[in-house]
Amino acid sequence: MERIIIDADPGIDDAAALAVAINHPDLDVQLITTVAGNVTVDKTTNNALKILEFFGKADQIPVAAGAEQPLVKPFEDAARIHGESGMQGYDFPEPTTKPVPQSAVAALHESIMKSPEPITLVPTGSYTNIGLLLAQYPEVKSHINRIVAMGGTLGRGNMTSAAEFNVFTDPDAAKIMYQAGIPIVMIGLDVTMKALLTPPTLETINHMNRAGRMLHDIIISDGDQNAAGVAMHDVNTIFYLRHPEAVTTTPYWIDIQTNGPAIGETVADVRGAYHDGQTNALVGTDIDAAAFNRWFIAQVEQMD
Ligand code: BDR
Ligand code: CA
Repeated sequence: MERIIIDADPGIDDAAALAVAINHPDLDVQLITTVAGNVTVDKTTNNALKILEFFGKADQIPVAAGAEQPLVKPFEDAARIHGESGMQGYDFPEPTTKPVPQSAVAALHESIMKSPEPITLVPTGSYTNIGLLLAQYPEVKSHINRIVAMGGTLGRGNMTSAAEFNVFTDPDAAKIMYQAGIPIVMIGLDVTMKALLTPPTLETINHMNRAGRMLHDIIISDGDQNAAGVAMHDVNTIFYLRHPEAVTTTPYWIDIQTNGPAIGETVADVRGAYHDGQTNALVGTDIDAAAFNRWFIAQVEQMD
């Protein structure tokens, strides 16, 4: 069992990642923290609680609400893709569970330090909570096993020509995270745009069970899809945790642009010229998309 903490901004693909992770027999989700990103943090927190309640797990996994704003840059949401609520397409009841009274940073600190074994962090939103945690409590670094983060790109961005949304939203936090000396796996657009959930996959889960119908309904409402399918970016982090063999990775040093026209760019030192050949991340560059689709169907099949 791998102990993990998910830091998310649900968000349709975050919601799908949470659904898979909290129902996975080999993943032990200790805590969910939320951050402003796809929508404001009150909504991302509410959406995390809706998913937990849908699966009857709200009393098992605490949710702590996190940063309302990026560290430096003004906040811009992605409601045009994820809808006003951040999780459109399915009529969830309003959650009755509340987030814990602690802030995300305090809850992360406590959960990481009390864990009997190093924990894996899975950020699927902007990295504001992680940046604050590392700056405020540097002692957590040696208690984190690895960070498997959705975000970044070696190629074109999806916010600007250079930047992917999560890193673009809070590049200053991303810089802190990439400079922390913790092993990082970057699951960026180079992977996620190759791993579309196909129309047959979505049709299959729609007729599978209650969870499949819900996931189908929110996924098909995603504003960013085409005839080939829909990218479920954040779900690829969970896939990587269980199937690293299906994702090609290359070690690079990743620097983050924190200003200028390329703000939010994840720059890979591909020639090893600036960091004496050292690397700070394993960067995903390819994925077995068919295996990802098969795995996703299998995950939904064992949900209630
Ligand atoms: C990332 O941006 C968000 O909109 C998605 O939830 C995902 O984490 C993809 O660029
Ligand atoms: Ca996300």
